[in-house]
Amino acid sequence: MSDGLEVADLNAYYGTSHILFGIALEVRAGECVCLLGRNGVGKSTTLKSIMGLVAHRTGTVSFDGHDLIGLAPHQIARLGLGYAPDERLIFPDLTVRDNLEIAVKPAARAGLEPWTIERIYALFPKLAELDGRAGGYLSGGEQQMLTVGRALMGNPALLLLDEPVEGLAPVVVQELTRQIEHLKDTGLAILFAEQNLAFAARVAERAYIIEGGRVRYAGRLEDLEQQPEVKRQYLMV
Ligand SMILES: Nc1ncnc2c1ncn2[C@@H]1O[C@H](COP(=O)(O)OP(=O)(O)O)[C@@H](O)[C@H]1O
Ligand SMILES: [Mg+2]
Repeated sequence: MSDGLEVADLNAYYGTSHILFGIALEVRAGECVCLLGRNGVGKSTTLKSIMGLVAHRTGTVSFDGHDLIGLAPHQIARLGLGYAPDERLIFPDLTVRDNLEIAVKPAARAGLEPWTIERIYALFPKLAELDGRAGGYLSGGEQQMLTVGRALMGNPALLLLDEPVEGLAPVVVQELTRQIEHLKDTGLAILFAEQNLAFAARVAERAYIIEGGRVRYAGRLEDLEQQPEVKRQYLMV
């Protein structure tokens, strides 16, 4: 039994459309890894397939030795995976606090401090100020913080983040970058989808570049600097 996430030969389909072709990747305990690639290449589908949100998927997805293929999203969450979707599905009529309260709360993982609303507010001070505000009145950045906060309330050991800074103003991106770095320091493993190489390189050590539903490059982000051809072919730079 090994620690962390292992994906091998993952195929995913929407209806009759074959979207992922044999994706293989791994995220070890405490690691921060990026799924890089342009729009429409299969990053979100990969995260959703790991989380059990794509009904038709085949291959191997295991976490801490548990087979996730065939499990429902709530069962996968209980095994230690958290997911912050790109659509930032917060409840517009509930307050910030209630959006956090409503999250599932499995027991904390060994070695990781359990999350409470107070601890979420310490990480995201803006949310503390907005405690009683309805979710529908938050800015994009505040909604993103709330989405991440809600995923953290499930006490994950691995957090899946789908384009966490997309569409946010540069100053908010900087703030979220610091907060994600803080999360890494707590020992949480993170797998995030991203289109922008610069942001990816700021927070992740390794990346998988996806294109056409396949992994085209796997390696350290700093080594990509010596791979202009890979960057030109698969990334927006
Ligand atoms: N619910 C869906 N039904 C059918 N096709 C979809 C659905 N979601 C995404 N796709 C298609 O799957 C491909 C990969 O999409 P996605 O994983 O969202 O890419 P990315 O996150 O990299 O932008 C795209 O061609 C997209 O149009
Ligand atoms: Mg996406």
